[in-house]
Amino acid sequence: MKYLALCFLVLVCALPALAHGDEEHDEDETKAVAIGDIAVPDNPTYHKHVRPIIEASCNACHSAGQIAAYSPFDNPEDVAWAAEDIRFHVVNGIMPPWMPSPENLPLKHDRRLSATEIATIAAWVDAGAPLGDPGDYEPAPTEGFSFAEIRADLTLQLDEAYTPAEDVLDDYRCFAFDLDIDSPQFITGYEFIPDVREMAHHGIAYLLDSEVDGEIDALDFADGRPGWSCYGGAGLSDRGDMIATWTPGTFGIRFPQGAGYRIKPGQIVVLQMHYNLWTTRRPDQTRIVMQLEPGDTELAELMTLPLTAPVEIPCPSGVEGSQCERENAIKRIADRFGETQSEIPDKRLKRCRQSLEDYSENTGENARTFCDYPSPFFKPLTVYGVLGHMHELGRSFRMELNPDGDESLLLLDIPRWDFHWQDSYQFAEPLKINFADVLRMSCAWDNSLSDDPRYVVWGEGTSDEMCFGTVMALKQ
Ligand code: HEC
Repeated sequence: MKYLALCFLVLVCALPALAHGDEEHDEDETKAVAIGDIAVPDNPTYHKHVRPIIEASCNACHSAGQIAAYSPFDNPEDVAWAAEDIRFHVVNGIMPPWMPSPENLPLKHDRRLSATEIATIAAWVDAGAPLGDPGDYEPAPTEGFSFAEIRADLTLQLDEAYTPAEDVLDDYRCFAFDLDIDSPQFITGYEFIPDVREMAHHGIAYLLDSEVDGEIDALDFADGRPGWSCYGGAGLSDRGDMIATWTPGTFGIRFPQGAGYRIKPGQIVVLQMHYNLWTTRRPDQTRIVMQLEPGDTELAELMTLPLTAPVEIPCPSGVEGSQCERENAIKRIADRFGETQSEIPDKRLKRCRQSLEDYSENTGENARTFCDYPSPFFKPLTVYGVLGHMHELGRSFRMELNPDGDESLLLLDIPRWDFHWQDSYQFAEPLKINFADVLRMSCAWDNSLSDDPRYVVWGEGTSDEMCFGTVMALKQ
């Protein structure tokens, strides 16, 4: 484990004042949680004070077989060994990973630690990370963070692995699955299990009716390999309903109690995978596991509304040349993804009743766009959750109800976008959106993060950008 030395250095240089009890507690340390004044136990030990926190809030990821298994917290000695590093990550709000801001509407499965928990960990580290007596251990009184366990009632997986094309860096491939069910069912939860994680950039599952059967027959295996190439959706005459998504940082998802997506025999699920091939190109057999309830159960039917906003990101300062022309950015999209895709940047502006003029103040370092979805777009809605999506230049993402009103609500507020921690979020309580309400989605980017800076517009490649969101609502 190489990280300890590095983090320890940062800790020593940047955070000495954060230690519990330090007289010179520094109020200006903006990202850090102010823990100086919080009461913590005397003589904290691992087993009595820290282990309940680690088990409830960390081990869903930091234990054998889980996503952070290379820094396991299964053994007390391992936790004590990493103590300084743990303090750095929790005091700075880096761990547990949780992107929405404290101003966000309350969300389910919130992973944040309380200030007391953070202060307790810091005090324990300061005390030299003593293990104490295992007999003192008592599990945390409240249930901690855990991943939703999804029952595998229906599994969609390719019979034959797909190896991405040789000549592209971003391969979009669609695969069709017949639903092996005899009667209507509700999907009440799912887990997307990417097979080759280093290659998976996103996955979307669309539900379609059997009318598209003929189209699929013509496309599937047409180039001798499973599936077909598809951009911006399934590439079929019907767009279908989005029923499942995966982006890095998404785990098993269980829909709100009493609600699900309804599926019928004969319907088809098309899985669109976006493979980004910078690091590897290997055969892939991604799976989606679904949990079902019979269709005659009294469940409310869900639907997904997609939202989009423009993307207009100029070159960062100091970068000049033809790659900084919007026109060339659009040509580049046409060359890589076809003419239809290259019309999208202008369509996005039109859809939001905007023009390029509206973004004349965008700079490479601070490019922002938004789109308002006013009531005519919606009927009154009961909303259960939302998702936001950008690529690697993203700085912040926001979905807001009535942004200009007195009672605006932050449905999703991600002040520091991190491509690796995207998720779909469910509200603690369902939210009503009424006729007069306006839903605004906005995105901000920093083009100086790019290795190859140029004017960036909406596009399907990893080095292009998106400002995309979904709203999961009751079907009416
Ligand atoms: C949702 C999963 C998840 C949870 C919950 C989580 N971590 Fe992590 N943690 C990770 C992953 C994944 C990494 C690897 C770096 C990355 O991808 O950001 C990591 C990295 C770390 C690191 C840096 C060392 C390393 O392995 O890179 C520390 C320290 C850490 N986590 C501490 C904690 C602590 C303490 C908690 C609980 C209070 C916690 N984490 C909760 C997923 C998680």
